Parts: sequence; structure tokens; C-alpha cells
Amino acid sequence: MRPFVVHPSSCLKGEISLLGDKSITHRALILGAVSSGKTIIKNFPANDDCLTTMRLLQELGAPIIQDSQLGSSHSLVVEIFGRGLQGLYKPRNPLFSYESGTTFRLLLGLLSGQSFPVSLTAGPSLSKRPMRRVTVPLRLMGAQIKARVRKKGKIEEEYPPVTIKGGNLHPISYNSPIASAQLKSAILLAGLYADGVTSVMERIRTRDHTERMLKLFKANIKVVENNVFIKGGKKLISPGEIFVPGDISSAAFFIVIACLLPGSMINIRNVSLNPLRTGILRTLKRMGADIKIIESQNSKCRNWEPVGDLTIKSSGLRGVSVRKEEIPSLIDELPILMVAASLAKGESIFEGVEELRVKETDRIRAMTSNLYKMGADILVIKKGKTEKLVFRGKEFLNGAAVNSFADHRTAMSMVAAGLVARGSTRIDDIECINKSFPDFIDILRAISC
Ligand code: S3P
Repeated sequence: MRPFVVHPSSCLKGEISLLGDKSITHRALILGAVSSGKTIIKNFPANDDCLTTMRLLQELGAPIIQDSQLGSSHSLVVEIFGRGLQGLYKPRNPLFSYESGTTFRLLLGLLSGQSFPVSLTAGPSLSKRPMRRVTVPLRLMGAQIKARVRKKGKIEEEYPPVTIKGGNLHPISYNSPIASAQLKSAILLAGLYADGVTSVMERIRTRDHTERMLKLFKANIKVVENNVFIKGGKKLISPGEIFVPGDISSAAFFIVIACLLPGSMINIRNVSLNPLRTGILRTLKRMGADIKIIESQNSKCRNWEPVGDLTIKSSGLRGVSVRKEEIPSLIDELPILMVAASLAKGESIFEGVEELRVKETDRIRAMTSNLYKMGADILVIKKGKTEKLVFRGKEFLNGAAVNSFADHRTAMSMVAAGLVARGSTRIDDIECINKSFPDFIDILRAISC
């Protein structure tokens, strides 16, 4: 347990660079492990989730070296010696995915293509997160999967631990019922091993890092609007060096704090500007935020992921309406946007936010219960399966004793809320921040006025 007391701050000033994007890093590791050649990942974030993917790929037989001398304390240089599509082997023990849902779901896709049986286990929070969304399509492709089953309402949901035995996969055309990049990615990774063309159709497009990374590794992949097609059996070739751009989901906390604290001005360098991830920037701009975006034309990753620099100056924020089609592009930023909406002038509405219920914690419950304690005015409206949030912005929030619910993004959002509130805020435990952003508090201290 690491309790933390936040005192109001007057402003943020300075220039920062962030650890590599967590989503992109998982993909670089996985494809590096099953490609041919050596992959060097630079700006690798030494956070719990990415280190978990790295460890599990090592347990599956991929040689991976971590060169901490070349990187800074949390930004590493990692070298992977690819084993080829069929070069992994049966691990000695069950693969423990700790709390990383991306690791768990993406590895289920990859393991569907392997002919040996594997068990995957998870920590307490991930053990409560639904897996049926990936087990259903992977079974359709031919993987044999057993999971822990619990009744949830009328359906039987599946949870870790999961045992999987893959091999001999056939292609499917899957109409994705949930806007989830993890689901799409699990199918595409399994599609690498299927004997034909696998396709995934999304009603609302989700982050496309897997598609971009597969192209970079010379997979036989095509994207046509909301459809992705992958032809199995083609050998992956490592691109050599991959520089991971800074994580926009980590940047989001500093961006919102800088918007809200008068007199702030910060520059964030080399951050991922993938349009399927930048919903936070579009939403804050609609709220009146002063954000300048300069896309780099000659960055090290320009040819496969958009990247650039941001300048944020403080500004008053006004209420905003966010439609359900926009949610996947800012799904991980909703907790910090909830802080922004609590203090924006007028009403804010976020539609179609129900996926927040199945993140590291139920983020609707976590964030609303915390923000209520600080004086926010929020309504949660449920209609059938969909949920929306309605905020009536307040002039200020009051410091309070709040909880992280062992969720990294709730913890960082509450640090942000504490910095812009009146009086001090006590958070019960911020250890969970290491899941994505071990540098968060240090960077915040360095740029606080
Ligand atoms: C992720 C996809 C999103 C996101 C998660 C990371 C990814 O999850 O919330 O933090 O790297 O693919 P879903 O696919 O469940 O929406």
C-alpha cells in the first residue's frame, strides 16, 4: 500500500517526454518474438504490464535482453531475437499474466496458433474481467479453450484461468459485437496461423496498432474502412529497430491538469498521435482547451505511427457532448475527462460508456464515488445495456479522502483532481500507477510550479 496526499498546485510549466506507448509496446514485443530477425525496441516503458508481456514471451522461449544501460531508469532498450511463427515452445509453468488484460487477451490469440497446451492465470482484478469476447471467436477458428465459467445475468461469462490448445486454425469472418481492440487483435494474431483469409469487421473502429505493427513486420494484411483482412501462413520479418512514441494516455493527465491550472504551459514531445487514440485532444479542444498539435514529418516512427509534439496552455473549459462512436478513441482517458467535466462550465454528456464497467475496476463506480466526495455533480443514466454520464460542472472541487480501487488510471485521475481542488486530497494507495506509468509522480513534481 502506498497512500498519497495531494496538495493543490498553482500551475504546471516545462517540457516533458513520456515513456513509450503501452499498447504499441505489447504489439512490438509479440510480433518481435514470432518474426525472423532481431528487433530492438527503444523507449520501451518499464511498467508492470509491458514487463509482464516480455516475461511471458521469454517463458514461451523467445530470447529477450533488456539493456538498462542504454535507456533511462524507466525507458529501456529491449532486444528480441525472433523465433519465427512456429518457434515458441511449451512453457514449464502456467503463464501468469498478473493484471495485464492486453497481455492476456493478445496472448490467447497468439497461443491459438501454437500446437502445445498452455494455461494462463491472472491476478485478482484481471481474474474478474470477461474473456468470452475472445474465447468465442478463437474457438470458431479451431482453438480448444477451457475457462472458468460464472453466470452473469442471463449469459455464462468466462474468466481466467484459461487453458488453451491451438493449432490447425481455419479462417473466420468475424463481425465484432464489442468495440474492443484487444478482441480484434487476438483474432488477427490467430489469423497469422490460419489457412486462409481471416477478417474482422468493426462497427466502430478501435485503435489500429496491431494492424500497423503487422504491416511493419510485412504480414499479409489489408485494411478497407472498418474491415481488416489477414492471410495466414506468411513469415513475419523484423523491421530491425522500433522507436515507441510517447503514450498519449499518460500525456492525458498532464494535458488536463495544465488546462485547469491558470498560468500553466507545458510542451509534450514525441507523443503518439494515432487518430484512433486522440479523442481526448478533439474533446478537450471542443471544451475550449488551448492545445497546439505539431505532427512530426521526420520522426523515427513517422512511417508507421503518427507522432508529434503538443503545447498546452491553461484555459477555461466548457461542457461537451461526446457520442458513443467517439468512445473507443478515448476509452482510457474517460476517468481524467470526468475530472475535466466536473469543472467545466455547463453540462457535459458522455454516451455509451458501459465498457468502463469492465476495466481494471468498474471505473464508473470508482470515479463517480470519488468525485461525489469532492463535490461533483454527476448522473449515471442506464438505458438497457448502454450507459451515459451527465455532469453539471462546478466552480471548484474540494479535497477529500478517496480511493484508487487498485486502478492506475483512477489513481492518476484522483492525483489530478487533488491538484486542482481546494484543500488536500488523500488517496488510499497509488502503487497501482506502476501498471502503466511508474514515472508519473516524478514528472509531475518536476513540472509543478
Ligand atoms: C487496449 C485496448 C483497450 C484499452 C486498453 C488497451 C489495447 O481495451 O482500454 O487499455 O492495447 O488493445 P479494449 O480492447 O478492452 O477496449
